[in-house]
Amino acid sequence: MKILAFESTCDETAVAIVEDGRKILTDQILSQADLHAVYGGVVPEIASRCHVEAISQLTRRALEEAKLERKDIDAVAVSYAPGLIGAVLVGVNFAKSCALALGVPLIPVHHIRGHMAANYLAYPELEPPFLCLAISGGNTLLVDVRDYTDMHVLGATRDDAAGECFDKTARVLGLPYPGGKPIDLLSQGGDDTKYSFPIAHVDGNPYDMSFSGLKTAVINLVHNAEQKGEQIDRAGLAASFTKAVSDSLVPRTMHAAEELGYDRIVVAGGVAANSRIRADFQRAAESAGKKLYIPPLRLCGDNGAMIGAQGYYEYLAGVRAGSDLNAYATMELG
Ligand code: KG4
Repeated sequence: MKILAFESTCDETAVAIVEDGRKILTDQILSQADLHAVYGGVVPEIASRCHVEAISQLTRRALEEAKLERKDIDAVAVSYAPGLIGAVLVGVNFAKSCALALGVPLIPVHHIRGHMAANYLAYPELEPPFLCLAISGGNTLLVDVRDYTDMHVLGATRDDAAGECFDKTARVLGLPYPGGKPIDLLSQGGDDTKYSFPIAHVDGNPYDMSFSGLKTAVINLVHNAEQKGEQIDRAGLAASFTKAVSDSLVPRTMHAAEELGYDRIVVAGGVAANSRIRADFQRAAESAGKKLYIPPLRLCGDNGAMIGAQGYYEYLAGVRAGSDLNAYATMELG
């Protein structure tokens, strides 16, 4: 079954064709990051307008690259929540028109479910149940994935997402948006014991997380140093900050895996590209005797293939959208 899939929830316009949820036939991604970098973050109206300009062209290119014709498409999947509403609306409306024109079913896909499904593309043997940590620019969730479409959120960030925290830290250090990769590069070789940052423990639920205190600590440290005219060890700061994020994510996830009896741990989302977090997870999984799945770097960030992968399993579970499908800025995962 060949699914034409659309992703436009933030600043990537992405169109993919995926076969049977596991094989990428084409994966077209147009990132707008350079346009938004000038403003230090995503400007929603610019994002929506860029999606409008790019989406038909990318769809044509996807069909060409996969050497497919319109009649070969069996269904259309679209990321319909959560995200920047104007941006999501572009993908939803375009996907609806495609499904109508092609006379095929339309499948709505939760964006974070898509991120998790990126692992199905990378690891053919991976099947639920497993424990998943989803870490992206807008969401940080620890999820009990019982089946392809049956999932239960164990914990989530109470404030900022992990990716947001990377982006704000980068900003205060004068690094470009999106800040995760520049912080990752800056931290290489930096002394991760140079600065001590707080790791939040949230009352009530051991699996809930919080990153706003960490963000504020970094901002205060930089501003105080500036006011006193002191030099900051930038590499040390990036390394110490990343260690704090990783120490907030990895032990918590390992603890949940132990408690729920999972021997498979899946990590997903843009922040899963972080080299320190990947290494820490690898080490922790090895010493606990658990199998770790993290997508290759190109499938960590937003892409259309992950929507096609999850779309396939949503389709098998009978999920369909009508012609009245809407877009949503927020939506629960489960
Ligand atoms: O999953 P994603 O592409 O978009 C959302 O669905 O939100 O995640 C984007 C986030 C940004 O905050 C970006 O700074 C972060 O992922 N990111 C990283 C790295 N690469 C991207 N964070 C830490 N280390 C990286 N190497």
